[in-house]
Amino acid sequence: MVFLNGEFVEQKHAKISTLDRGFLFGDGVYEVIPVYHGTIFALENHLQRLADNLGHTHIPNPYTHTEYTAIFNTLLEQHSANEHQVIYLQITRGVGEKRQHSFQNLTPTVYIRTDTLHIKNEDTLKQGYQATLQKDIRWHHCNIKSTSLLASVLYTRTAQEMGVEEVILHRNNIITEGGSSNVFIVSNGVVTTPPKSNDILAGITRDMVLKSCEIAGIVHKEENITTQELWNADEVWISSSTREIMPLACIDTTSFDVATPLWQQVYNTFQTLKNV
Ligand code: PDD
Repeated sequence: MVFLNGEFVEQKHAKISTLDRGFLFGDGVYEVIPVYHGTIFALENHLQRLADNLGHTHIPNPYTHTEYTAIFNTLLEQHSANEHQVIYLQITRGVGEKRQHSFQNLTPTVYIRTDTLHIKNEDTLKQGYQATLQKDIRWHHCNIKSTSLLASVLYTRTAQEMGVEEVILHRNNIITEGGSSNVFIVSNGVVTTPPKSNDILAGITRDMVLKSCEIAGIVHKEENITTQELWNADEVWISSSTREIMPLACIDTTSFDVATPLWQQVYNTFQTLKNV
């Protein structure tokens, strides 16, 4: 069962118009929200980011916080609380009369579904992952969690072809983020991540990693990272709602430390935040 425009329907019966602007233009925004043992993680933060993104794109927010929560809970009831879940929520501008760039006041299309979330366990994460450094060719509003994900899809293809987990992106030798994650480096015990800007998505997991550093008393900064600083780093991590805090063992041919005591401390603190 999924939620589509006010109704709970079987996925196979969930149909939208070919004139939906999400389909025609990628004209919409989305959220990916992890649910740990039945508890929605950082719900306020996700709904606030959704509201901000709807504001940036001039799409009216169709539901209140309470209404979203009720929909999520109905969908989550389908699953056992023993498994972790992930909520996918997409809101497009709606269905136009014909295919045209301009739009009048439309009713947004709302699609929400839940799936099992397969997060890597600690031992698997500790082995470290591979990545590749690529030029960031995306637009300059990457702060908007837009459903227009063609660049991201092509980066994923590149990563798959190279047999690596993620692409790390740079603009003019300044690291922005991963194809679908945020980036952290650790150098001499200091954790650094690029500052929030139009060039990166303000990841909710990113905020929680910084909060974990704060709680654990680890020095952390939000500052630009050059590609040179990346290559010289002791550790590189990526974060997202579906990956948590993933250490990279290498980017292209450069290796980094994984499963260090510092990573462990941040990882452990992050786990405690999940149970709040
Ligand atoms: N992606 N940066 C980009 C470009 C992303 O697509 C994502 C998440 C993040 C991390 O954000 P968060 O911590 O809020 O998940 C950063 C999701 C998981 C996706 O597209 O499936």
